[in-house]
Amino acid sequence: MAKKPWQGRFGEPTHEKVEDFTESVSLDKRLYMEDILGSIAHAKMLGKIGILKGDELDKVITGLESIGRDIEEGRFYFDKTLEDVHMNIEAELTRRIGDAGKKLHTARSRNDQVATDLRLYLKREIHDIRTLLVDFMRIIMDVAEDNLDIVIPGMTHLQHAQPVLLSHHLMAYFEMFARDHQRLGELLQRVNISPLGSAALAGSSYPIDRWMTAMELGFKEPSRNSVDGVSDRDFAIEFVAASAICMMHLSRLTEELIVWNSQEFSFIELPDSYATGSSIMPQKKNPDVPELVRGKTGRVYGNLVALLTLMKALPLAYNRDMQEDKGPVFDTVDTMKSCIGIMTGLLPGIRFRKDTIMEALDKGFITATDIADYLVRKGETFRDAHRITGELVAYLVSTAKTLDTLDMNDYKRFSPRFEDDVFNCVDPVSSVDLKLTYGGTSRKNVFDAIQRARAFLDDLNHDS
Ligand code: ARG
Repeated sequence: MAKKPWQGRFGEPTHEKVEDFTESVSLDKRLYMEDILGSIAHAKMLGKIGILKGDELDKVITGLESIGRDIEEGRFYFDKTLEDVHMNIEAELTRRIGDAGKKLHTARSRNDQVATDLRLYLKREIHDIRTLLVDFMRIIMDVAEDNLDIVIPGMTHLQHAQPVLLSHHLMAYFEMFARDHQRLGELLQRVNISPLGSAALAGSSYPIDRWMTAMELGFKEPSRNSVDGVSDRDFAIEFVAASAICMMHLSRLTEELIVWNSQEFSFIELPDSYATGSSIMPQKKNPDVPELVRGKTGRVYGNLVALLTLMKALPLAYNRDMQEDKGPVFDTVDTMKSCIGIMTGLLPGIRFRKDTIMEALDKGFITATDIADYLVRKGETFRDAHRITGELVAYLVSTAKTLDTLDMNDYKRFSPRFEDDVFNCVDPVSSVDLKLTYGGTSRKNVFDAIQRARAFLDDLNHDS
């Protein structure tokens, strides 16, 4: 069992059960690179203020770098009796370079160290997740562009409402993921703060330079209050909250794919390579990938509630409870990356079944609103037009006729304003093309929206 840095005050060794219960290294070893970078920055600053002398700084840096390589290549043994990644690395550094290693923790505590590591880690992961989101948005946009000729029944209450372009429907998801991308970018400014030098909670009596370490690590600035610096986890909660919203968007998309893939809808066919079979029913081709994305949404919601509950009513400043933040944060990162990644792979392989979509458009009197609008254009008030069209639909239901098979004499029985040109607006494509208002579903609008989306993504690429 390794000797703990804080062993001095204790008369007997830690109980083995307590070692197991309190360790966090099995999870937080994931932070090793950030821990090493944080320590190098801290060491450089200690060098500048004369605490690390002569060749000590070089030794610390070389030692930390060699530990980093060993961990990277799987040659490092993490000892759970040393609790966490911070003590494991520090103990190994001292073993490798001697006394200089023991100076590293001057003017620092694991409380500011762990907060620094987690912030550095999240900065990197948020950047990666945003890049994945951009790839995904590009795929959504491409699929929308390739299918501009498909009109689907737009729904409200999961009932046929009005025809919309499939591309318009897909671009609605583009908007959601663009907001997720933006949200993650905005919260980054609150992640991008350096708590290093807050020490245990009070700050330090050594003349440390917190701006230097903050700049060295690429943070915008040091945290303004040392108590807040070590006890704040808002940045982690915000990240998980933004992820929960993003997963909610993914779950809506996947739910639609699952429904569209059902025999009842048959709007799409999933690629074989992204579907799975049943071990008992040979005919089955199941949408397990979208189902799992929908299911994993629950994990991320759970992670958010776990973090909020963890932090609820915690007195200032650091409390050991906060060690429990790692699981939900790491799990959220993993879930987000795998879900966005798999959906980016799945989407381009979906085949939209124009035949069944067209059949579906014939049901549900989907252009009834266009008929009412037609009557308004012919001089009717909207309320009367609505009533007349309602009566017309009731008649169609009772006679099993449709708007396009009804003959002109029948139309005239409901309103003398009907003329032959009514047949133009019972056609779903004409209906779509009439929706020329900004943000509406006409082919012209949607084409323009896709061009704007492309320019937006190209701009993002230039920025990063
Ligand atoms: N393992 C701890 C965590 O992840 C590091 C900080 C420990 N600080 C302390 N005072 N025990 O939160």
